[in-house]
Amino acid sequence: MTAAEPVLEIVDLVMHFGPVRAVDGVSLTVARGEVTALVGESGSGKSTVGRCIVRLLDPTSGTIRLSGTDISRLSRRAMRPHRRAVSIVFQDPGGSLDPRMLVGEVVGEPPRLQGVSPRDRRIRVAEGLTRVGLRPEVASRYPHELSGGQRQRVSIARALMSEPGLLVADEPTSALDVSVQASVLNLLADLQRDLGFACLFITHDLSAVEYLADTIAVMYLGQIVEHGTRERVFARPAHPYTQSLLAAAPVADPGRQRARTRVLLGNDLPAAIDPPSGCRFQTRCPLAVDRCASEVPALRDFGGHTVACHLVADDGTPPDVRAAVREDQDRPSDALTSDAPSSPGRTS
Ligand SMILES: Nc1ncnc2c1ncn2[C@@H]1O[C@H](COP(=O)(O)OP(=O)(O)OP(=O)(O)O)[C@@H](O)[C@H]1O
Ligand code: SF4
Ligand SMILES: [Mg+2]
Repeated sequence: MTAAEPVLEIVDLVMHFGPVRAVDGVSLTVARGEVTALVGESGSGKSTVGRCIVRLLDPTSGTIRLSGTDISRLSRRAMRPHRRAVSIVFQDPGGSLDPRMLVGEVVGEPPRLQGVSPRDRRIRVAEGLTRVGLRPEVASRYPHELSGGQRQRVSIARALMSEPGLLVADEPTSALDVSVQASVLNLLADLQRDLGFACLFITHDLSAVEYLADTIAVMYLGQIVEHGTRERVFARPAHPYTQSLLAAAPVADPGRQRARTRVLLGNDLPAAIDPPSGCRFQTRCPLAVDRCASEVPALRDFGGHTVACHLVADDGTPPDVRAAVREDQDRPSDALTSDAPSSPGRTS
């Protein structure tokens, strides 16, 4: 393992559930200590990528390297020494914590599996709980006695017990009350900064992305269509899908909000069982041309910013979905423009 080696390197990952092509050729690299946000609407395959990384799923094909080791085909037993390298936090802390286990047992399980003595375990559990803002006494409670936010703190404490190089956080705040979402998000940001683990942060919340992420990977129907630094993707989104997501996201400044041209994604996400030919976004893309239905756009690299769209010029100049939509705005029947509020592509 060298310092420059990425903590996570996924190459051409495929995960099919029978005919459902949930993940269909994803390549993604996360550097040591980096936070990569994985965004995209419901059903695009984000959680499936996350679950393959922690090997809750056995990938159909492709390679997943954790600090250089290919873990994509390891048996359960051979996977064991690598379990510590990566942890996952789920959306629903209630469902992911065993209700029959005391909090202390939940958080103490990773060190127990490492053979740490009960006495040292108690110390480590107390430290782990304190680190996530909980009192050590919480160890003797059951998860159901805690609030949703506290339970998610317990999940985070548990996930960090093995000092993983990578944390997969799958919508870690979206099941929580809005009032506690920010505090859990702040906690994750603080822990990430202090402990320096890398994070694959799966989310619908673009304001959280802006706050937390170093890079953004955008998924559409089982594939990554754009990946770049947060600054670059927010300032100059290149893929028409990314442009549509960002245009639909709420912004803090009401003036800016009014001035924006809304680009609503017309119909629903097509079924992963039968994705459109050529570019998978062609059935909803305001800019689609004939070529888009016949030719799969390659993921091209423009100085560390990768995009898969035929209309991105060779020098990286992106097409402009909003300009195209504005030109159409006189046509009253145009389904792609509206002032109606919308969430970023959420379909469920
Ligand atoms: N175990 C499974 N069996 C069959 N199909 C599945 C399974 N898990 C996921 N899928 C399908 O794979 C596709 C991708 O699902 P996934 O949960 O990865 O999406 P997601 O991007 O995480 O969505 P969300 O934002 O709603 O969490 C969907 O069409 C889903 O129905
Ligand atoms: S390749 Fe065509 S359909 Fe796909 S995003 Fe680009 S313009 Fe739209
Ligand atoms: Mg999901």
